[in-house]
Amino acid sequence: MGENMEREKLRPKTISTDRNSASARSNPEREIKTGHLEPEPNSAPTMAIDLQAVTMIYREKTVVDSLSFGVKAGECFGLLGPNGAGKSTITRMLLGMATPSAGKISVLGLPVPGKARLARAGIGVVSQFDNLDMEFTVRENLLVFGRYFQMSTGAIEELIPSLLEFAQLEAKADVRVSDLSGGMKRRLTLARALVNDPQLLILDEPTTGLDPPARHQIWERLRSLLIRGKTILLTTHMMDEAERMCDRLCVLEGGRMIAEGPPLSLIKDIIGCPVIEVYGGNPDEISLIVRPHVERIEISGETLFCYTVNSDQVRAKLREFPGLRLLERPANLEDVFLRLTGREMEK
Ligand SMILES: Nc1ncnc2c1ncn2[C@@H]1O[C@H](COP(=O)(O)OP(=O)(O)OP(=O)(O)O)[C@@H](O)[C@H]1O
Ligand SMILES: [Mg+2]
Repeated sequence: MGENMEREKLRPKTISTDRNSASARSNPEREIKTGHLEPEPNSAPTMAIDLQAVTMIYREKTVVDSLSFGVKAGECFGLLGPNGAGKSTITRMLLGMATPSAGKISVLGLPVPGKARLARAGIGVVSQFDNLDMEFTVRENLLVFGRYFQMSTGAIEELIPSLLEFAQLEAKADVRVSDLSGGMKRRLTLARALVNDPQLLILDEPTTGLDPPARHQIWERLRSLLIRGKTILLTTHMMDEAERMCDRLCVLEGGRMIAEGPPLSLIKDIIGCPVIEVYGGNPDEISLIVRPHVERIEISGETLFCYTVNSDQVRAKLREFPGLRLLERPANLEDVFLRLTGREMEK
C-alpha cells in the first residue's frame, strides 16, 4: 500500500459510539481550529490501540510482562501504576521509540514499530518531562513543532490563535518558555501536541508536579478534547486523575496488569463499601475492637482504614477510644490501588 493511501487512513475520524461514561459528555465546547485534515466518518479503526502479549525486557529485566489491552476510539484509557511500573516504556513502544521484545502492537490500525512513522502522524504526544524549547517563545515553539509535520508556516500561523486560546496563553504568545510557570508549560505542551490535529493523544503524566488549579485546567482541556472525539491514553499515578478522567483503565505493577475496567466498577468490585479512616490512637489496639464489626481492616502507617457498611456500629465502637479523628468517605480508586498493590498489614 502506498504511503499516501496509508496517510489517508490517519485522517481524523468520527468516533465510535461504543463508549461508556464518555457517551455522557455533552458538546458545549466550541471547536478548536486545529489541523489540516477533515473528519471522514465510518472508516476509523474501532480500536485506536491494541496490544497483544507485549513484553519488554531491558538487560534481562522484564519491565513489561505479556501485557494485552485495547483502547477504543473516542475513549480515555488510563495506565495507572507506581514508579517503575512500565507506563513510560509502554508509551515509548506505542510511538515506535522502543521495540518490544515480544508481542504485537497496533496503533490507529497500523502495526508498530513497522509503520510507526505513519501512525505518529495521527498521534499527539505529551511526554513525561517537558521538552519545549526554553529559549524560544510560545509562538516559536508551536511553529517549530508544526514543521515536523511538514506543515507550511502559513498553515501553522493560521492555527496558532486557536492553539493559544486552547492553552489559555494568548497573552504569552511572545514570552520565552523559560519564563512560563509549570502549569503554563504543560498547557503549551498539550496545545503543541494538537498541531497535527491528532486522532490519538498519548499523555505521559500530564499533570505531575502541577498545583491543584493547574491540574484542573489541564483536566478541563482534556475533557474538551474528548468531547471533540479524540482518543486519549493517559498515564498517571494519581488516582483522583484516573478516576476523574478515564472511561477505563488498567492498573500495572512491575509491568504486569493487575486489574482492568471502568474506575467505578473497579471500586465497586474490589472495595464495595464506604471507608472510615481513623487517625490517632494505637491502630493495632483499635483494630482488635472494631474488627468483628467491619468487612475489612487495613493499617497504613498510623492510619487505620475500616471498610464497613455498618458505619454507625463502628463509630459507636470507636467512641471507646478518646481523641480519635475520623474521616468517613466513599471508597475510591486509591483504595483499589493500595488494596491491589498491598497496603494491608492485616485482614
Ligand atoms: N532504556 C532503559 N534501559 C533500561 N531500563 C529501563 C529503560 N527504560 C526504562 N527502564 C526500566 O524499566 C522500568 C519501567 O520504567 P518506566 O519508565 O517505564 O516506568 P514508569 O511506570 O513510567 O515510572 P514513573 O512513574 O517513574 O515514570 C524501570 O525499572 C526502569 O528502570
Ligand atoms: Mg514514566
